[in-house]
Amino acid sequence: MLATINLPRILRVGAGASRQLVATLAELGLTRPLLVTDPFIKSCGYCERLQTPLDAAGIAYGLFSDCVPDPTTDSVYAALAVLRDRDYDCVVALGGGSSLDTAKAVAVLARHGGLMRDYKVPRQVDSGLPIIAIPTTAGTGSEATRVAVITDTQTHEKMLCMGLGLMPVAALVDFELTLTMPWRLTADTGIDSLCHALEAYVSRKANPFTDSIALTAMRTIYQNIRTACAEPDNRQAREAMMLAATQGGIAFANASVTLIHGMSRPIGALFHVPHGLSNAMLLPEVTAWSVDHAPARYAYCARYMGVATDADSDEIGCAKLVDALRELLVDLQVPGPQAYGIARNDWFDSLQLMAEQALASGSPANNPRIPLAQDIVQLYERIW
Ligand SMILES: [Fe+2]
Repeated sequence: MLATINLPRILRVGAGASRQLVATLAELGLTRPLLVTDPFIKSCGYCERLQTPLDAAGIAYGLFSDCVPDPTTDSVYAALAVLRDRDYDCVVALGGGSSLDTAKAVAVLARHGGLMRDYKVPRQVDSGLPIIAIPTTAGTGSEATRVAVITDTQTHEKMLCMGLGLMPVAALVDFELTLTMPWRLTADTGIDSLCHALEAYVSRKANPFTDSIALTAMRTIYQNIRTACAEPDNRQAREAMMLAATQGGIAFANASVTLIHGMSRPIGALFHVPHGLSNAMLLPEVTAWSVDHAPARYAYCARYMGVATDADSDEIGCAKLVDALRELLVDLQVPGPQAYGIARNDWFDSLQLMAEQALASGSPANNPRIPLAQDIVQLYERIW
């Protein structure tokens, strides 16, 4: 099988990587960046980590700090208006997946114009302004993907947008930016990464390049996520989670996600559940539903993560994997849709629409067991 792998041109990984922005800009021949972030990150002082060296180097930059969680087309257009004010030659995204995806969307619209919905899959957008991504969560992996998810303000659809124009030219992966991440955010973003790795490994588009990265990422996340949650300033755990999140991003960007992410996006769009949390709600049940169609692959994950042994059969390995995922959700206090506060009628009235949106994203077709709409409805019913 022929695999095509896309990566950022520069990956700087490790403590202090975010302080290398000036050097990175120089390497890429860029001189007029627009920083894109959200109000919380700005208030944390992380912006200053970028701004102080930029000022010292005499680089004139702009700042848009109004990114919103689950970025909407309205918020993207607001950032685009700021970008069009001046002659910026790149966007520097600082934040979680929401700020990174906002910056990606702006980079594409700045180059090509039009509306965001013009760029949703199956369209591939091949170019845009250069993007430098500086993640502040160990989660989305967006710094290493050619994907952005933007919610259409009018239709509430979580639109999947893909193409090389959305791939950062550089990613500065600095775990020191995650040392203050709160417990819930650490858990949710970490499970998002775990899903990226697991889904990439079992995906019908998996390949030997992504397999090795996905396996390393899933083991690292499984073995460090509880510590990262319990000890926020544990540098070893944070460093491990941060690298694994980027690896998870590389894995799924080049092997695709599957049914968990396909079903997760509609939950986020309709009920405003954070992305990692809606993935978490789905992770054990979708895995349990899928294992029989790729038992060797799932069992290998279980052994690699250390929850099954070489002596276990594939069948037992699969069962142990599902059990371990269920236990992880309990330990990380992941609520179901009901406990999260979603009304029963709202949930059950939306199942058909959610199933249609899930299928339309294309991700479920990469799952080892390919679902019909009715299967997806039943899975949504099961996680309620
Ligand atoms: Fe994700």
